[in-house]
Amino acid sequence: MPHELPAPAAEMRVDGTTVSLPVVQDSAGNRAVDIRSLYKTARVLTYDPGFGNTVSCRSAISLVDGDKGLLLYRGYPIETLTEHCTFVEVAYLLIHGQLPSHAESEKFSELLNRHSMIHEDMRTFFRRYPEHAHPMAVLSAMVVSLSSFYPEVENIEEDIDIAATRLLSKLRTIAAFSYKKSIGEPVIQPSYKLSYCANFLNMMFAAPVTNYRIDPALIRAMNQLFILHADHGQNCSTSTVRLVGSAGANLYASICAGICALWGPLHGGANQEVVEMLETIFREGGHVDQVIARAKDRKKPQRLMGFGHRIYKTYDPRAAIAKKICREIFDRIGRQDPLMDIALELEAKALADPYFQERQLYPNVDFYTGISYRALGFPTNMYTVLFAIGRLPGWIAQWQELRRDPDQRIGRPQQLYTGPMETHFVPIEKRA
Ligand code: SDX
Repeated sequence: MPHELPAPAAEMRVDGTTVSLPVVQDSAGNRAVDIRSLYKTARVLTYDPGFGNTVSCRSAISLVDGDKGLLLYRGYPIETLTEHCTFVEVAYLLIHGQLPSHAESEKFSELLNRHSMIHEDMRTFFRRYPEHAHPMAVLSAMVVSLSSFYPEVENIEEDIDIAATRLLSKLRTIAAFSYKKSIGEPVIQPSYKLSYCANFLNMMFAAPVTNYRIDPALIRAMNQLFILHADHGQNCSTSTVRLVGSAGANLYASICAGICALWGPLHGGANQEVVEMLETIFREGGHVDQVIARAKDRKKPQRLMGFGHRIYKTYDPRAAIAKKICREIFDRIGRQDPLMDIALELEAKALADPYFQERQLYPNVDFYTGISYRALGFPTNMYTVLFAIGRLPGWIAQWQELRRDPDQRIGRPQQLYTGPMETHFVPIEKRA
């Protein structure tokens, strides 16, 4: 639990008055000035668009250390978890705070199986969706509609495992169904005989006329890619889930909001943008210098997608692992991808360029994950869906933590008003 440094650790002078404010420090040594009494004592607010300098909550779920390039889930380094765990074990860890025992793992997996199918009436939604609908639109609509099929989610406090496994399992099924619908193939139902990721790959790529073989090496890669995305502090979509949850909205409604936030190209949508950027470079002859130049152009900036991060000011540890997974998938399928060579050249040139060095811009999680998904056979518009499936346990854990936090109340930031203080009313008949 964060503790307060000996007071008064921070003083602020406002209009000649000195206000003293407590400072709190977290497990990693990060300090924050507790300004909760500021407006009451000094009638002054703090201004921080994008909340880059604002702590919104206390959380024990993950730690992102942007200077050291460190990512911990409940104290475990991301490298340890991707090496030794399955995605389901990490989901359990994030939601329950410790890795499952064998019995707990069995029970959790049994629940995931029990909740893996979707209601037949939900499939009617799929049939009515336009073929070209973006799968993130389908995903968000289906998730919020789960609260109509399972209204008991309103009293979720009883058993988080039921609501969590229902969502974890059905999100994966919904994603696979939306893909099959988009290619006009019959859906493949989940199977009790398959693990979480094996089920997903099977639902995605098996078909009655092909004998799709589920490759254990690719199942492991899928587990690792989902683990890389499972949680990441108070990022945009997680903060959205918390904000909606702080209003008392149920878990499915809160997660639906998180899916919509993740869809943004500056956030989870970047993995799709990276591959589209690499495809364009490849189509136009593979010249990365123009993309680097455009990324630096102050007049008409076209950001280098998959580069830069609000917190990481060094290499995103997930990008390093994703690069390694990418290579392992290529070795396994016995095929390279020219986009990988372009990505490696782009990274090398950007990291050697003073513009990127001065701004501490490095590859982030999205730079290599899209190429991995492409090698696994996923269509480009599903990459952010895969990010959402991976991030779901983190969103659930964060939503649960918010609901249990005595400090938390409905989120309601303030503003600096820039509008007129008095506008004279003119009846419509007299308006020009
Ligand atoms: C994710 O928060 C999380 O944890 C998110 C995430 C998670 O797991 O949830 O890690 C997932 O969202 C990863 C980020 C994916 N998005 C992208 O790859 C899109 C490209 N990246 C950028 O748009 C940007 O780096 C952000 C959005 C990621 C971060 O933006 P910030 O922190 O608001 O940085 P900024 O816009 O203030 O930029 C600072 C400077 C600016 O230049 P100057 O005005 O100082 O001259 O760096 C420049 C920016 O123009 N810059 C870039 C750049 N990113 C920042 N220039 C070129 N290319 C880029 N990618």
